[in-house]
Amino acid sequence: MHKITSLALVGALSLAGGAAVANDKGMQVYRSACFACHDNGVAGSPKIGDKAAWEARIAQGMETMYSTAINGKGAMPPKGGRMDLSDDDVKAAVDYMVNESK
Ligand code: HEC
Repeated sequence: MHKITSLALVGALSLAGGAAVANDKGMQVYRSACFACHDNGVAGSPKIGDKAAWEARIAQGMETMYSTAINGKGAMPPKGGRMDLSDDDVKAAVDYMVNESK
């Protein structure tokens, strides 16, 4: 019964299309390239899910945050140190982090 329910859920999610796929992508990139710092606030990084830490950053606008994530800033390495990621991969991860943090 449980198995059938979760299979149906997976089906529904894949049918939901673009937005769901982009968000999955962001989660995957986050889990592979960004979590090491942002899960625990390492080196003063804004911790995912910490609304207060993200509020002022979100207020700068998404373009600024994309640019910081891609080009680096202070202890934040460009693309989280993963130069193999495309700009779009990094932006998807930023979208994911911001959605989890507001
Ligand atoms: C080595 C640790 C580290 C890794 C890995 C890392 N970050 Fe960061 N990140 C930081 C730190 C530290 C800051 C705070 C920089 C500052 O404001 O001086 C930060 C800040 C940010 C910000 C806020 C930018 C702003 O303009 O305020 C975003 C967005 C971000 N990181 C996204 C990412 C993404 C996406 C990844 C994975 C691709 C990632 N980070 C990987 C350490 C890291």
